[in-house]
Amino acid sequence: MARLTILEHPDPRLRMQSQPVLAFDGALARLVDDLFETLYDTRGIGLSAPQAGVLQQVVVTDLSDDASAPEVYVNPELMLRSGLGLVEESCLSVPGVVGNVVRAARIRIRAQDRAGELFERDLDGMHAVCLQHEIDHLKGKLFIDRLSIFRRLRMRAAEAVRSRNKGESAARRSGTG
Ligand code: NI
Repeated sequence: MARLTILEHPDPRLRMQSQPVLAFDGALARLVDDLFETLYDTRGIGLSAPQAGVLQQVVVTDLSDDASAPEVYVNPELMLRSGLGLVEESCLSVPGVVGNVVRAARIRIRAQDRAGELFERDLDGMHAVCLQHEIDHLKGKLFIDRLSIFRRLRMRAAEAVRSRNKGESAARRSGTG
């Protein structure tokens, strides 16, 4: 097993569509194991393969406190959603940002397990929120895209200031104006 490097926004690979998994083989098993190792290492509740630069439709989750509830979703699809709620989210690929997004309170998901077996599951609460967040990753979407327009404008302004400061300090270091 190996701890994978998690890509961070604005890495363009986080914006790409992931491909369906067709082969349920040793390579997939290794990817799933590595995603779990990375998830547990970062103390997250969910992780998608594209966050590790692997553009395949694979998601792992564990919503327990003690790594006792690992779940694998290969080629996941949202079948039903109902109820809406505002939920506070963050993302390993967008460090330092927490924001409220609208999510369905209950979902039905269809996916395959690591052996390729098809299953359907009804999820609610954080479980439902987590899967919606991870399925967004498979489509190249980040939770910050779902923040209010005001919040996104504030973020963009903060990013501009940060990159300007970075440029200034680099200029000072190199002794140029
Ligand atoms: Ni995320």
